[in-house]
Amino acid sequence: MSPVLCCIEVPPSLLSGIVWRTKARISDGRPFDAHEDIYHFALDAMSGFTFGHGFNFGTTLPTTEAISGMDTTAQKALRSTGTKEDPLSFPHGKLPDVMWAFMELTELVAYLLGNPFPHLTWAYVLRKPASKKAYQIKEDYIQGELKQAVQRLSEGGAEKPSSAVDYIVSREKAMTEKEGRKPDFFSRMIVDEVFGIVYTGHETTGTMLSWAMKYLADTPGAQSQLRQALHTRFADARAAGRNPTVQEITSNQIPWLEATIEESLRCSATAPTIDRVAKVDTQILGYRIPKGVVVSQPCSGPSITTPAFDIDEAMRSPTSLVARRDGDLVPSNWPREGISVWNPERWLVRGSSGQLEFNPKAGPQVAFGLGTRGCYGKRLTYVESRIWITLLVWNFEFLPLGAPDLAVYCQDDNGQRAERLLRSSARVECKGCGLVQNSRTCAKVLTVLFSINSIDHQVSYMPRL
Ligand code: HEM
Repeated sequence: MSPVLCCIEVPPSLLSGIVWRTKARISDGRPFDAHEDIYHFALDAMSGFTFGHGFNFGTTLPTTEAISGMDTTAQKALRSTGTKEDPLSFPHGKLPDVMWAFMELTELVAYLLGNPFPHLTWAYVLRKPASKKAYQIKEDYIQGELKQAVQRLSEGGAEKPSSAVDYIVSREKAMTEKEGRKPDFFSRMIVDEVFGIVYTGHETTGTMLSWAMKYLADTPGAQSQLRQALHTRFADARAAGRNPTVQEITSNQIPWLEATIEESLRCSATAPTIDRVAKVDTQILGYRIPKGVVVSQPCSGPSITTPAFDIDEAMRSPTSLVARRDGDLVPSNWPREGISVWNPERWLVRGSSGQLEFNPKAGPQVAFGLGTRGCYGKRLTYVESRIWITLLVWNFEFLPLGAPDLAVYCQDDNGQRAERLLRSSARVECKGCGLVQNSRTCAKVLTVLFSINSIDHQVSYMPRL
């Protein structure tokens, strides 16, 4: 585990199950919105990673306090709203300003997706009073954190960086010494890089983990196989009635767990595309690509979540053929039938001793992009997902939603958004992909609600990465 990972503090209130145990008890079998809690967890984890041990503005705590503060009358009143199948709306705590600002600014990016005038739209949204306020809070906070990191560095903290900000500052110092220039610790680029980590890191993992829990809830067989695999691997923890430790989780290979993560990455299509600009005139499968053209590779669709196109191999370039033969590129050899279905078993094979093994090359996976510009947070995502999924599946049983209109997966023909779909009584299936097409429109629709049962395990410690 890299030193930076050591500084992530997993929000104890969520992982030790207080929020969801309490919600499960109060909701008494009714579904509730889980997406927001997962999203908060991801934001807290990423902020801890970026700003280090001193960071104590979690988003999970206010919710925990708001829910724990509900007396029996308030709980009864909440349950009396709607029918037994309607989702319960739990109260929210007030977020610390800096977390509110991070979330507000992250949401703004949604304005740009598919927008034909991104520059104009961005200029407009940044003028809104809430955006201006959020922007200023974010700027002040990051500048303050950078100042403290510079201070730590000057006091000899370079040997023991405790956060991504510490690393960035010490790298800037090292670079300037090499290049013979003065350090600029507070440059626009550095401030944006810092926020870039928080932004890219929590939105993605929050979306992917929400999908993972949704898939597990809707596939009880796979959920119990995973739980069984965890119980077998962490038999000591089970016998002692405790959670597996972070050390145990990160140092053990559990094929069902790896496969669950890999399959959720494949199906959630969290990042919609990988884009590259052609630096020279070129060809792809015989099509001319002039220099300067942006080439987008979708992270879902043919070969990944729908059957592959039939390609005339003679059209491939010599370098592509070599890459296919010698490189890590995996041809899609999964059966066309059922390729859009979430099924972790497609990543599992029987080893020579008959044991189940995880095969990361069982099929194509481009969730994190490729090459030198591939995702910087890939390893962190795997670590976070392992811990998160293990502890939740260990502590809770996720039940499929009873009402079919809550259990929708994708957008309808008109691309209607989640919130509207949830309020309509229509059963909606995605006409675009059969399963998952666009996580941004779909994830909110689909992952938000599930019912959970607490499994009786004692949680007696605060996990730390
Ligand atoms: C489910 C989780 C995640 C997914 C699916 C994901 C996906 C991606 C993809 C597809 C790219 C573009 C890669 C390319 O162009 O080849 C990317 C880039 C990037 N990601 Fe992630 N990411 C995830 C988590 C994270 C996390 C946790 C962090 C931060 C710690 C992060 C930071 C970044 C950064 C900084 C880049 C830009 C890299 C560059 O341009 O050189 N990502 N990610």
